[in-house]
Amino acid sequence: MVSGNWKMHHDHIEALHTVRDLGLRLKPEDVARVDVSVHPPFTDLRTVQTLVEADRLPVILGAQHCNDHDRGAFTGEVSPQMLARLGVRYVVVGHSERRHLFGMSDEAVAATLAAVLRHGMTPILCVGETGEERAAGRTEERLSAQLTAALTGAEPAAVAAMVIAYEPVWAIGTGNAATAVDAEDACLFVRQSVESVAGAEAGQAIRIQYGGSVNAENAADYMAEPDVDGLLVGGASLDAASFVEIVRASAPRR
Ligand code: 13P
Repeated sequence: MVSGNWKMHHDHIEALHTVRDLGLRLKPEDVARVDVSVHPPFTDLRTVQTLVEADRLPVILGAQHCNDHDRGAFTGEVSPQMLARLGVRYVVVGHSERRHLFGMSDEAVAATLAAVLRHGMTPILCVGETGEERAAGRTEERLSAQLTAALTGAEPAAVAAMVIAYEPVWAIGTGNAATAVDAEDACLFVRQSVESVAGAEAGQAIRIQYGGSVNAENAADYMAEPDVDGLLVGGASLDAASFVEIVRASAPRR
């Protein structure tokens, strides 16, 4: 699964152009074995949904975040119910920018994950260590804490259907991508942690993405690793041509 997280880029007019361009470039064979999702800002979702549905484009609608309540006095927030009503199928939960810039705690991540599931959508749960944590040899400890906090208590069947994105904070938007070997080590650790929290079946079934400075040149290297099942792409997903190259480089070869 290859997902484009647009972050706070592209207004709804730009979104229209980008998704139309994606629709022109993506061939049936590109999406035969790869799920492709886009995660535009909230103000673009209705526009993208209308376009994708009307033209039956092979793109899955995703969001970047939501509140954990269904409704209420939460000024400025968007509820999971609103997203589900719009046909959103995947929601990024606990992205490092939400955790670090907006103070999203492990508890808030768990509540949001539960809310997304409650509305029949699939979370893309983001985990990852900071550069300092990595330098201190605390990568696995941090991943384990984030996974345990988010997944404890979730139904194993729901966990099996989820996506987890391993996004080392130091690799996000820096051009300093993890090596394929480092990404594999971390994704394998994520899989083993999921197995210990939700059972072997969930660990085998869950899809694990790598994210952090992914581009058309390095995508295939990650996808060649046995425990990397997909990519979560930021900057390189904003341009349809570059995103489609990443999708093509990700087609399974095994
Ligand atoms: P970049 O691909 O721009 O490094 O962003 C990664 C990311 O945070 C995707 O969620």
